[in-house]
This record gives sequence, structure tokens and C-alpha cells, in this order.
Amino acid sequence: EELELAGHDHFMHKEIHEQPSSVERMLGGRLDDRFGSARLDGLRMELRELRGFRRVKVLGCGSAYYVGQLGATLIEDLARVPADAEPASEFRYRNPVIEPDTLYVAVSQSGETADTLFAVREIQRKGGRVVGLVNVVGSSIARQCDGGIYLHAGPEVSVASTKALTHMAVGFALLALALGRVHDLSHADGARILAGLQALPGQIAEILADEETIAEAGRRLADARSLFFIGRVRGYPVAREAAQKFKEITYRHAEAYPSSELKHGPLALIDADLPTVAVVPDDDLVERNLAAAHEIRARGGRLTVITHPGVDLGDLEADRITVPRNERELDPILLTIPTQLLAYHAARALGEDIDRPRNLAKSVTVE
Ligand code: G6P
Repeated sequence: EELELAGHDHFMHKEIHEQPSSVERMLGGRLDDRFGSARLDGLRMELRELRGFRRVKVLGCGSAYYVGQLGATLIEDLARVPADAEPASEFRYRNPVIEPDTLYVAVSQSGETADTLFAVREIQRKGGRVVGLVNVVGSSIARQCDGGIYLHAGPEVSVASTKALTHMAVGFALLALALGRVHDLSHADGARILAGLQALPGQIAEILADEETIAEAGRRLADARSLFFIGRVRGYPVAREAAQKFKEITYRHAEAYPSSELKHGPLALIDADLPTVAVVPDDDLVERNLAAAHEIRARGGRLTVITHPGVDLGDLEADRITVPRNERELDPILLTIPTQLLAYHAARALGEDIDRPRNLAKSVTVE
């Protein structure tokens, strides 16, 4: 029954719309109000062990790698432990230094991606500890890891991943919370993040209720041969994943840049034929992000801005998509949701085979 379209034209659309209820299900039983933390028994780790990690390294491929970047930012933000993400496909071939006080995190929807699985084995061979953020229960990566957090997103049929990525991001928030509460995060901040997590399902539903606005903006992007997606700091992984999704199903060239880097090169390409999607959250970089948007307009570039209710675009000419605010650390999870629909509606306007893009497989189980 879960594998039917249930009134949607595509699995991608169905899976996007499942997110409010699937995220709610994922959070069930994992929020620990008493300690302002997350309950993650699947990690199979004592608090003392969690406390011992001085660094986090996230490994995944494709979209899982981009969400891994978002996750690494969340971990640094909340736990104040240095964290970064790397494509598992590169990591396993470069004779990486494995450190005993680093927590390695393998992230994968299918749990069968060969590059990620071999990276896990390489780490373990050298004595490292790996936990998995995996969707498919009992999959190879889930079994190989020393513990983990199941994503409980349910089956994902569309090759272009949506709900599984949102669940990965939420999984990283839970891990960051648990790590944070044994490192540097106060009880009050833990409680603040818990409240933010609880608000997510309702806020995702709010964004989806505004689908027509996003669809219109998406259709207007469909005629472009090439696009930029820009964002900074927490917004940059959002832009990277958004560009990936867009190119996967529209076959348009889409490239992500930190908005701060525009003036160092890509601005040269901006004209009326190269639109930009800008992620502009209401944070301490909002003025700088808006300045970058004005630079683009001044060169004739068209703009779509994904932003928060309080942000005043002034006389900036742009398609505006507004998402509700959450806690600043969790905002990227919500900013990503409209980018799924942007890609979907652009691809739809182009008449592409949305659920089965050419040349791509749902999971790459060979090297
Ligand atoms: C393939 C898919 C991507 C996916 C990547 C990792 O390349 O086409 O959409 O992000 O594999 O898949 P995983 O199952 O490990 O998350």
C-alpha cells in the first residue's frame, strides 16, 4: 500500500508530502524532555564514550554527502566539537588517518552504497568507531556499523531523494543534541532545540500548503540552461543539495556557490539567461546575503529568494518563497523543503520522467 502513488502523479511528489507525518514518526520516543537531550539507544554507546569524542567525521555519497555537510554544521553548532563531511567515495581511496577520539558517521538512505560501505570497513579495520544514519533496516551499512540511528522515513521510490534527506538532517540534529549535552550544550539550549524539533512537522506542512507559490517559481526556472544556487554558512549545504536535486531531474546545469564567493569569479557569468536561487535566512548574515542578491540584479540576473517572514526585500525584484522560522540551528532543514518542490515543478514543466532520471540509479552498489 505504501508503494502506491496514492493520488500523486509521481513518487517524488508523494514522498515530499509524506514528510510532516514521517518526521513526526521519526521523532517519536526519541525526545528526552527531562535531560533536554535525545534518546538514542541504537548508538549503543555509554554517555562516557560519547563524551570522549573530540571530533566528528561524516561520510556519505551524493545527496547523503550534502546533508552530511549540513549535519556537520549542526554538530559544530550544538556540540562545539569540530565536524566535517567528506564524500565516502574519496575518503576510502586516500589512505585517511583514523583517530580513536573521532566519531565517524556513515550516512545512507539505502544502506547499500558500495563506496560508503567500504569506507566504513576501512575505518573499522584501522580501529575507528562508526555509527550509521541509515534508512533501510538491516541493510549492509546498518549491519556493518557499530551502532546507529535508523531514519524511519519509510520506503523511498523516487531516485531523487527528498524525505530520506530530511530524515538524515533530523537524525543529525538528534545526534548533535546527544553529543552536545555531554559536551558544551546547556540544558536550556537542549530544551530549546527539542521544542524546535517538535515544531518541524507542522512547519513542513505549512511550507507544503504554499506549494502553488513554489511551483510558479519553479516553472519560471525551467527555461534556464544553467542556474546558480547560493547561500552562506548554514545556507550553503542547502544550496548544494538544491543544485544537485535540480540537475538530477531537470538536466539543467545547476551550480552551488557560497554567496560570499560570487565576487571572486562566478559574477562574471550573471546575465538575464542565468537565474539564481538565493537562500537568505533571517540570521546575522542577512544583510550580506541581500547585498549579494542586489549585485546579481544589477547585472540583470533573475532571482528566486528563499527566506523568512521577517526579512524585508525592499526594492529587490525577486520571486519570494517564505518558510517559517525555527531555531537558527534547525532552520536549514526547513529551508531545504521548498527546493524539493522547485526542482519537481521545473522538471514537470519540462515534461521529464521525474521518478526515473536518465543515467542514475537509486543506489550504487558497485564500485
Ligand atoms: C546514488 C543516488 C543518489 C544518492 C546516493 C547515495 O547516487 O542516485 O540520489 O544520494 O546514491 O545513496 P544512499 O542510499 O547511500 O543514500
